[in-house]
Amino acid sequence: MRSTLVSQFGDPRQVIALVDAERRAPQAGEVEVALALAAVNPSDLIPVTGAYSARTTLPFVPGFEGFGTVTRIGAGVTSLKVGDRVIPIGASGLWQEYVLRPAEWCFRLPDDIDPNDAATAYVNPLTALQLVEALRTHFGSLAERRIGVTAAGSAIGGMLMKLLAGEGADITGIVRSRRSADRLALEVPGRVVLGDEGQTPRLRLDAIIDAVGGPFAGDLILRALEPGGAFIQYGALSGVPVPQAAIQARPDIRFSFLWLRTWVHSAGRPAIEAAFARSFEGLRSGLFSSRIAEIYPLSRLDTALAHQADPGRDGKLLLDPRC
Ligand SMILES: NC(=O)c1ccc[n+]([C@@H]2O[C@H](COP(=O)([O-])OP(=O)(O)OC[C@H]3O[C@@H](n4cnc5c(N)ncnc54)[C@H](OP(=O)(O)O)[C@@H]3O)[C@@H](O)[C@H]2O)c1
Repeated sequence: MRSTLVSQFGDPRQVIALVDAERRAPQAGEVEVALALAAVNPSDLIPVTGAYSARTTLPFVPGFEGFGTVTRIGAGVTSLKVGDRVIPIGASGLWQEYVLRPAEWCFRLPDDIDPNDAATAYVNPLTALQLVEALRTHFGSLAERRIGVTAAGSAIGGMLMKLLAGEGADITGIVRSRRSADRLALEVPGRVVLGDEGQTPRLRLDAIIDAVGGPFAGDLILRALEPGGAFIQYGALSGVPVPQAAIQARPDIRFSFLWLRTWVHSAGRPAIEAAFARSFEGLRSGLFSSRIAEIYPLSRLDTALAHQADPGRDGKLLLDPRC
């Protein structure tokens, strides 16, 4: 079967190989899923670079998000049947034609969710829901709280702005590009400001949800956050960590990290099912819809990865593992 493999850490465009892999039969408790579409997310590529080398075992097949159809069932599986559309989660491995996954890590997809939405129903919607939950735990009600969302031009940034608006928060999306600022002004509630390293916007905020990191996040921590506020980091698109000096200079702020993977492996199936139900609801209403820039056959992975790295990319990329 068509598959991909990372055998050494490095630049994703150099080290993710297209390979012909053996298609194995599902063991007891497992199902085989024929993948229909998989997403390309920043979180798929970070482990490839070796950033988490201590907890990443080589070789591995990348791809944390996608959906497909159950094609074979292992002994003892009663919760799923051949033909069910499912979202397999819990490990990477979706950038290939077929994946084997324990049935308990497969979540059934309602018939009315279209393929592009199905392929992006997991990582960003569930993370956005957890981020808002973390803020609610800190503040209680979010009504009128001044909340800044960095990298608001990203897929999850737009979801966060819409979710927070629904909570009555006073939202500011911070983007680095005029293109995103213009688009967001039309698509999401709240104000949008330009901000980047060396150009920190002048803001007063109760909380910041940050996916940029680096000196830019450090400046926001020092200049924008009110005492008693919260700073949640969930990404580092700049490739640089949040400066420790900024964190140490603000003992009055609550700092935390949020990784979906940590939540998923501790939440238990009923909580994940409930989160998926909210994701599907949000996909139906448009709240969680991601703009899709292009769908590439998996056989053209090199072109897809070059497009992913292009700063001018305008939306998510999907891979079709069937071709
Ligand atoms: N912790 C978790 O479990 C978790 C889960 C989901 C996502 N994430 C993180 O969330 C972030 C966004 O993910 P996504 O899937 O939404 O990505 P995406 O849609 O691919 O986002 C790309 C956009 O992010 C903006 N961006 C990129 N680098 C930037 C930088 N250095 N400064 C400011 N903006 C920048 C760009 O917007 P412009 O067009 O404005 O330049 C770009 O178009 C990633 O860091 C990802 O790892 C984390």
